[in-house]
Amino acid sequence: MEIDRKAFLDSLGGAEGVKRMDAEARADALENRMMSELNSAVTAKKYPTAAEVEAQIETRPYRAGAGFLIVPRAGGNVKKLPPMPANPTLQDYFRLRFNDTANHVLQSANLAMKNGMSEEIVLACLLHDVVQEIMRTDHGWWGAQLFEPYVSEKVAFAIRYHQALRYYADPSVGYEYPDLYRELFGADYVPPPYIEATYQMVRKHKWYMEPRMVAVNDLYAFDPNVVVTIEPFLDIIGRHFKQPKEGLGNDGSPVAHMWRTISRPDQPL
Ligand SMILES: [Fe+2]
Ligand SMILES: [Fe+2]
Repeated sequence: MEIDRKAFLDSLGGAEGVKRMDAEARADALENRMMSELNSAVTAKKYPTAAEVEAQIETRPYRAGAGFLIVPRAGGNVKKLPPMPANPTLQDYFRLRFNDTANHVLQSANLAMKNGMSEEIVLACLLHDVVQEIMRTDHGWWGAQLFEPYVSEKVAFAIRYHQALRYYADPSVGYEYPDLYRELFGADYVPPPYIEATYQMVRKHKWYMEPRMVAVNDLYAFDPNVVVTIEPFLDIIGRHFKQPKEGLGNDGSPVAHMWRTISRPDQPL
């Protein structure tokens, strides 16, 4: 590893300062300097800048906002999807369509349950990211819309705004800015004004803690070795999710087309 010789000497008080040090002190100073340069090299290497993230756009054959069902991140050709039942339920979508998001949201809901969260927060955790199967950009808003006809206003509020709160720390509940975001957006990323304005609005809202608790229980939910099933949440779904009898996608609700898109993402039009 190379160190900047002049900067190093300057930090010790120049040639005069170095002369006054004994051999051991010089060796210690050199070692400290190398360790701190190594640390900053590791930190700098770990996270791209926002400009570097932007430069990646033209290296990909898809846009980062595309959902996992549309462009699976595994690469290669997509597989034929299993058919959905005639009147599909939320559990059917978990089983047959939420391939890339189910494990993450189940882990989040599991953590929320262990942490003694309310049933509405557990449900919001269970649903918070599944819309990313079709759309990732602004997934808080897309996700809330997908579920709004079937859940309470509070659950929809928690899903909609967890996205914006993820960018803002709240030490009062132990929430820190996630390292994953430094990786995804760049170390020097600044959220756009609508995210900042949303955060300011939600921060003052009486339901602030609902989306905040989704963010808190979201943060540690990326363990690929933990597999959680939907069974522990069926009672909560039964109490707080209004399953339409015709099936999600067939009920004529304003969001039925979104469910049909998840059902049939191979449909060209
Ligand atoms: Fe999210
Ligand atoms: Fe999440």
